[in-house]
Amino acid sequence: MSKMINITIDGKSFQAEEGKNLMLAAKENGIFIPSLCYYEHIEPPLGTCRVCTCKINGKFGPACTEKVSEGLSVAVNTPELMDTRKALVEMMFAEGNHICPACEKSGNCDLQHMGYELGVSSTRFQHLFKDRLIDFKPSRMVMEHNRCIKCMRCVVDVTTTDGKKVFTYQNRGNETFVGIDYEQEARLTDEQALNAMKVCPTGAIIIRGVNQSEPFGDRKFDLESTQKDYNKKPVLTKRLVAMEKKMVATVSLAGCFGCHMSLLDIDTELLDVIELVSFAKSPLTDFKNFTTRCHIGLIEGGCCNSDNVETLRLFREHCDILVALGECSVWGGLPTMRNAIPLGECLEEAYLNSVTSEAGNTIVPYHEDLPKMLDRVYACNEIVKIDYYIPGCPPDANHIWKAVKNLLWGEEYSILYSEFKYD
Ligand code: SF4
Ligand code: SF4
Ligand code: FES
Repeated sequence: MSKMINITIDGKSFQAEEGKNLMLAAKENGIFIPSLCYYEHIEPPLGTCRVCTCKINGKFGPACTEKVSEGLSVAVNTPELMDTRKALVEMMFAEGNHICPACEKSGNCDLQHMGYELGVSSTRFQHLFKDRLIDFKPSRMVMEHNRCIKCMRCVVDVTTTDGKKVFTYQNRGNETFVGIDYEQEARLTDEQALNAMKVCPTGAIIIRGVNQSEPFGDRKFDLESTQKDYNKKPVLTKRLVAMEKKMVATVSLAGCFGCHMSLLDIDTELLDVIELVSFAKSPLTDFKNFTTRCHIGLIEGGCCNSDNVETLRLFREHCDILVALGECSVWGGLPTMRNAIPLGECLEEAYLNSVTSEAGNTIVPYHEDLPKMLDRVYACNEIVKIDYYIPGCPPDANHIWKAVKNLLWGEEYSILYSEFKYD
């Protein structure tokens, strides 16, 4: 039997097998260290994602490449480390084109899961919107380079029966992408191909015909947290003031109106809403201007044209608290699918070359009264300061109502894991 040694994690003492990987030693002692590239059977560990960054004997370093030894002292959950990890995951979202509501891996994706676990509700970094290839050429799979986080798992772990590599890194820096050897890819057995999809922590490798085998709503990370209370402890506050009536304004910008439909899903609690708030402005009242100052503004959708920008600025001016609600306002959402394509090409495709265009009868609409289209779709925080974010496509009705109640009246609330979604 291996020698047992003493280690300290977050000030608590544990015993572990000497030489054991720190990730496993921590897990065995009930401590969750977030990771994206670590895969137990890949040895030596890849150490590519850095999401497992901890303070090991006082120095920042990846936990996955560390073997435990006598007296090792590790800090995992300090505020600084938690924020560093969160920033790393936010960078991954900003660096790729992650449109979770349209992704086959949504609900079953390690990157998305890390977002839930680390409490990512928006990103502090600007999205790059690189124009990345979707490779349909492989015979067994579709390679979605927009979702690859370059963890290297596929490069190291996926081989044919006779040991030939299927994936390889190409280019350098931000231009690095995972190339496929089409010949070898075609030789993978069904099981090996499926394993490639499984090995990938994101939706970058999708095997044709099997991508939706797990039903929506029943997927791996929809309901279960790996670390139940990590960074997600409910903030419980006592009711601070009497529930006097508040003034609320809502608007739908570049989105689909789904968030407003979700508000209606508050169901019988809608009766409370009517008792407790007045709507100064909403798509239902359709008032064109603000006539009074509002306690809270709920913004659905991002900004795709000059009209959206003007409305958003008007809301910022007239609302004490501004809440960005739903994928489109928080990240840009589905409308940002156009961001990797030049605006001219989008307009040509939509108005001149679409399958429903009539030959000789096509025109790109232009009139001074029409709002001007922006070069790309912007999330709300790129235009004005946003105070709070509620992600989701659409966000859960309970999540919205709990957040609004808490912001307006200091009501007690807790957000359930299952209510916090990107899709
Ligand atoms: S589900 Fe995962 S891979 Fe798909 S877009 Fe979201 S984060 Fe990216
Ligand atoms: S394709 Fe998937 S497994 Fe391969 S490097 Fe990209 S994210 Fe990692
Ligand atoms: S899990 Fe350690 S670097 Fe990725």
